[in-house]
Amino acid sequence: MKQIAIISPSVRNERVGHRVALYIKKYLEENSIAKVDLLDLKEFDFPLFNERLMFQKDPSAKLIDFSERIKKADGVIIVSSVYNYSFPASLKNAIDVLYPEWTRKVVALASATMGIVEGLPTTFQLENILSQMKAIVSPIKFFAINIANEYKEDGTAVNKETTDKQVKPMVDEFMFLVNKFTE
Ligand SMILES: Cc1cc2nc3c(=O)[nH]c(=O)nc-3n(C[C@H](O)[C@H](O)[C@H](O)COP(=O)(O)O)c2cc1C
Repeated sequence: MKQIAIISPSVRNERVGHRVALYIKKYLEENSIAKVDLLDLKEFDFPLFNERLMFQKDPSAKLIDFSERIKKADGVIIVSSVYNYSFPASLKNAIDVLYPEWTRKVVALASATMGIVEGLPTTFQLENILSQMKAIVSPIKFFAINIANEYKEDGTAVNKETTDKQVKPMVDEFMFLVNKFTE
């Protein structure tokens, strides 16, 4: 079974976007689609970027761990909270600190917002950055909206049947690409 890393970027104490990361993890596991490694940036608590890992003389153990887990993953799903029509600084911090790890890595993008405005600018921006870093960004995205009401704290979707139907196209295309590129 393929090994998928999910990045949950919000580091806010009262964060809600993490619920969507937990939901996607559950979806992949319950449907026996993949094994999941959840990379929670709040747990990693990285310092503000000052150099890429490949140029660091004495990198921290947690940065090496993060890099190894991205390397080991057959694909990565990024579930980004929507911040000012963009994505959290914590996520840019974690993307920029790596470089070779992203090369030809299959990446799927999801956005999470409490509002009803979808995260299209968020995923466009991430797609642009990750493509520059030679990642293979799946064309089908998942836009989670109204997340405080639609997802419980443990990642359970309130309207599971509908939400499962909405996430399926993103997951199916992503897994198709993962299988193609990790044969
Ligand atoms: C700094 C900041 C900027 C935000 N900007 C937007 C925005 O542009 N559009 C939007 O729909 N929601 C916006 N939100 C609300 C987020 O969608 C909301 O906080 C959501 O829960 C995801 O972020 P979280 O995972 O940190 O909770 C913003 C939240 C923060 C903290």
